[in-house]
Amino acid sequence: MKLQIALLLTVAIIGTGSAAKFPNAFSRCKQEDGNCLLEAVTATFRNFHKGVPEIGLVPLDPLRIDKMDIVQGDGPINIVLNFKKVDLGGFREAQIKKINGFTSNPTKMEMNILVPVASLVGGYRINGKVLILPIQGEGNSNMTMVNCDISLKWTGKLVEKSGQQFYQVDKFKVHFDTSRFYMDFSNLFNGDKALGDNMNVFLNDNWQDILKELKPAISAAFTKIFQAVVSNVFNKVPYNELYLA
Ligand SMILES: *[C@@H]1O[C@H](CO)[C@@H](O)[C@H](O)[C@H]1NC(C)=O
Repeated sequence: MKLQIALLLTVAIIGTGSAAKFPNAFSRCKQEDGNCLLEAVTATFRNFHKGVPEIGLVPLDPLRIDKMDIVQGDGPINIVLNFKKVDLGGFREAQIKKINGFTSNPTKMEMNILVPVASLVGGYRINGKVLILPIQGEGNSNMTMVNCDISLKWTGKLVEKSGQQFYQVDKFKVHFDTSRFYMDFSNLFNGDKALGDNMNVFLNDNWQDILKELKPAISAAFTKIFQAVVSNVFNKVPYNELYLA
């Protein structure tokens, strides 16, 4: 499995040296106040899904992925799947279920996020074989996951930059589960509607097997996406400023 991914993370460059400016409505917590953090991060997804450039928070919903290539060469699924200008949507409804490690001397951190409906919508090109059937096409796609349960775990440490302590992310890991996975590829087989419709039915009938095969690739994609999002904030805001004094 090979994965390439280019994120379009649009963040304004703000002068450094001054304190990070949080929006008025942004809720911050005391360190290690678990319940407050659950609510504050959930509220961030809900109220600031368009991003907060001042603190390095990129637009989370939709989250634009410029380019994502999944090359899966062995096993029952043998495909080259290129996505172009796809939007990942649904995170404004995210609920934080668990959050740990936001301490005064942070090392390991973790967060569990439940997204009721997450959709990846945009351009695709596919070529290869799924289970036993050849597949080929280019057009618009929609991959949707229901009850997407995402677990983020990462390690890191505080480092000093220009006299201030920042948390630097080191290793990042994402696992996820979903209770249903829908796929819709328009314009398969050069627009042959009967073939394309049949293939979409076949894919959705076999979603569990397909998800099992694609899970490592999707997890790797989520890893790159969330690592970029999380690191961006930690790189921008001195660690202590993330909290109420
Ligand atoms: C994507 O598919 C889901 C599930 O079938 C559907 O609810 C949603 O409206 C679709 N989104 C778009 C943009 O077509």
